[in-house]
Amino acid sequence: CGIVGYIGSRPAVPILLGGLKRLEYRGYDSAGIAVGNGSVGVFKQKGSVGALEVALQASSSMLGDATMGIGHTRWATHGDPSDRNSHPHTSMDGSIALIHNGIIENYSALRTELRSQGFEFASDTDSEVLVHLIDSIWSSCPELSMEEAVRKALHHVDGAYGICVISGRDPQRIVVARKGSPLVIGLGDGEFFIASDAAPIVEHTKKVVYLSDGEMAVVTRDGYHVKTVGNEAREKSVTELDFDLEEIEKGGFEHFMLKEIFEQPVTMQEVMRGRVRHEDGFVRLGGIEDYLDRIRDARRIVICACGTSWHAGLIGEYLLEEFARIPVEVDYASEFRYRNPILDEHDVVIVISQSGETADTLAALRLAKEKGALVVGICNVVGSTIARETHCGMYTHAGPEIGVASTKAFTAQVIVLYLLSLVLSKDRSLSRHDISLYLRELGEVPEKVSRILELNDQILEIAREYVDSRNCLYLGRGYNFPVALEGALKLKEISYIHAEGYPAAEMKHGPIALIDKDMPVVFIAPQDATHGKILSNVEEVRSRKGRVIAVANEGDEEIARLADHVIYIPSAAAPVTPLLNVIPLQMLSYHIATLRGCNVDRPRNLAKSVTVE
Ligand code: G6P
Repeated sequence: CGIVGYIGSRPAVPILLGGLKRLEYRGYDSAGIAVGNGSVGVFKQKGSVGALEVALQASSSMLGDATMGIGHTRWATHGDPSDRNSHPHTSMDGSIALIHNGIIENYSALRTELRSQGFEFASDTDSEVLVHLIDSIWSSCPELSMEEAVRKALHHVDGAYGICVISGRDPQRIVVARKGSPLVIGLGDGEFFIASDAAPIVEHTKKVVYLSDGEMAVVTRDGYHVKTVGNEAREKSVTELDFDLEEIEKGGFEHFMLKEIFEQPVTMQEVMRGRVRHEDGFVRLGGIEDYLDRIRDARRIVICACGTSWHAGLIGEYLLEEFARIPVEVDYASEFRYRNPILDEHDVVIVISQSGETADTLAALRLAKEKGALVVGICNVVGSTIARETHCGMYTHAGPEIGVASTKAFTAQVIVLYLLSLVLSKDRSLSRHDISLYLRELGEVPEKVSRILELNDQILEIAREYVDSRNCLYLGRGYNFPVALEGALKLKEISYIHAEGYPAAEMKHGPIALIDKDMPVVFIAPQDATHGKILSNVEEVRSRKGRVIAVANEGDEEIARLADHVIYIPSAAAPVTPLLNVIPLQMLSYHIATLRGCNVDRPRNLAKSVTVE
């Protein structure tokens, strides 16, 4: 979910709506705002922020004069997406309004208790207990400040939260608190902004303060102060944001996803900038420099991540084992933490997260630290919680990624893992000469990606033939097995076509039973050691009347005889091929999804950043 807040001298509603639009990638099941104008006015409903804006305009509401308020865009956890389950939630007398990200784990017990005190619930959400809890405490002790009432309420709560509270009983302030769900305060001139990440703030100010877990803040027109939920004062440092508004706008593309796909030749260079000298095989990763020996001496590396970042981790496994010769395991962050993993100070855990806020990945990080492992982060969002809590790490520098389906962040993650593998391999399995050859291969990737992007029209034409498919299979081997998984994930996320990725050789142990004339099969078939085997797999699909789309290397004529469509891309050394092969798969999914009329930037039921476990 996304949170915004504003307090200052300008009309709050347009600022809140503008901020919520920038946050819709965090969820868009419903949206709502509450503004303080002496009393508290709330407007909320199921659906997008755009729909909320239209409804607000039509409602001749009096909210327009307010100069402070809070807003929310929701990704449903408890309670279906509906008007009544939308945030803000209010106290029974309407004087307190609250928005909440996260999950209150003991909400059921709290609700029973509050009901017994006579509180009536207007929604099915876990969040609503918070506002009644605050009301209960405050009403029984009216001399408390709002801050104290919120603090006391939070002492009863188990779970994760990022909250913003306003009240007509104390109308000149916003109280915010965080535990497990990010919050940032933007510092303007006589005005302050609150948000669950910096995206809605950057157009107003570049100065921000990130709250840490267990902290709360009171924000007024004159300033802010931060304390812990335990009531200890905290000194916070101000961070300068390093991205511009235009970086998060569409720049002429129809969708953010398409823009982000097309940005990859540039973002790939950004990842390498200042880290690589192609001429003489020099790689430097400043963020982990002090920990290099410990990482090199690791008994084992465990990579934890979710979704697309997990796929990058799988490619990392191939790269690290090949180049650095350190045993690697890759785990879903959510599984890792619940299976009592064997881990100690000889292990290194790498957590990969575009947003740096994914709750499961964050929990895996904390568990790994507790067990004494060194934890290395690979994050895209600078200053994100994961980036701050890891011992050391590397940013992917791909710029803000808004499309819910990850594209440029994925390729940036793979490049970071590639560079890391080379750094760790030094004096081990690869000579300086080998490293410079692999760096040269990597250096050629952005230009090769530009050439692949020129195939956009051809890929659109192929997409037209598969718009009505119900299923799709993606097959690849070696470095490109995770690319098959990623291709399938991209398609299902944004087009709602069921898709599966498989190691090509495993096809005969199951998926082959599904193949018939209605089953498109996407083969990733670079000209490497496995090419002959892949061709046999293509034959097996053909003989069962499956339709074949092959991603192959320029000059591979053999495959053209077997496949219905061939997307020819430049060849490269095996370890860099995932960076090339994934590009046509991103484009194919994009076109199939848009031809089906799907909202690719905001696919149903998904969120860009999942801050609940
Ligand atoms: C969500 C997004 C995915 C993303 C995953 C992990 O499911 O929809 O695109 O890969 O979270 O996110 P992270 O920010 O940790 O990489």
